[in-house]
Amino acid sequence: MRTVQTVDDLRRAARGLRADGRRLALVPTMGALHEGHMSLIRAGREHADAVCVTIFVNPTQFGPNEDFGAYPRQMEQDCAMLEGAGVELLFAPSVEEMYPPGFATTVRVARLTECLCGADRPHHFDGVATVVTKLLLQAQSDVAMFGEKDFQQLLVVKKLARDLDIPTRIQGCPTWREADGLALSSRNKYLSPEQRAVAPSLHQALQDIASRFRAGDEIAPHTADAAKGLVAKGFSSVDYLEVRDAEALEPLSRNDGRAARAFVAARIGTVRLIDNIPV
Ligand code: PAJ
Repeated sequence: MRTVQTVDDLRRAARGLRADGRRLALVPTMGALHEGHMSLIRAGREHADAVCVTIFVNPTQFGPNEDFGAYPRQMEQDCAMLEGAGVELLFAPSVEEMYPPGFATTVRVARLTECLCGADRPHHFDGVATVVTKLLLQAQSDVAMFGEKDFQQLLVVKKLARDLDIPTRIQGCPTWREADGLALSSRNKYLSPEQRAVAPSLHQALQDIASRFRAGDEIAPHTADAAKGLVAKGFSSVDYLEVRDAEALEPLSRNDGRAARAFVAARIGTVRLIDNIPV
């Protein structure tokens, strides 16, 4: 695996990997790699001839009181995992390389970013949209892989690629879970053993809401009950537990035949966990 740290080196290396009609898949990450990330890399290999992973803990998508400083950084371990997976290229830029002094541009996707995590984390999706736009333009890959674990992020990235005529295909990949249903996340590392034992109830709550929704029930009383249930089990608070349509993220009060997903974000102690499933 070749590791590059500058945009110029990335461009040169990516161009080399795309020579002679070969296809390149991009897998953007913030590192602290786990099996969820590795599943994106495997999917990338199915869609392309070579895979470029990026590791960049993007400061602009963290709020002032969020975990940017504490976000797990483990470059050596990550590199070993990427080598083992046969990844061809790693781009691991510095903050100065991505945001040189005087950097002044923000990519903002309207509407899709105003609900769910956008409501709880102002400016988060501006940071995501800006860094992902940069990475897509820097690597110019044929396809880029994003997890359904962050479904709102996936929709935001699809939208910016379409609106800005970025010719990379955005490919969503299913959420990778532990055997007990907990979605893998770099933030699971923050959980104490007691909190880890409670965490899978997030997925159970989503499954319960999904089955009520499918049955045609009005969903609000069930989401209110399920949120109370999560707090009774040990969650500190529930930021949202909702069913929305899977394209524009419009709230749905009951099943109207549109493709829908159930979404949840909740805090255990200071750790914020999110999950979603198709209904
Ligand atoms: P990060 O949280 O490191 O996630 C990188 C990619 O892995 C995202 O597309 C995310 O949806 C996917 N992913 C995370 N957990 C997953 C799981 N359990 N199953 C499947 N895919 C999973 O998301 C980001 O980084 C950043 O916002 C980024 C897009 C890199 C921009 O900074």
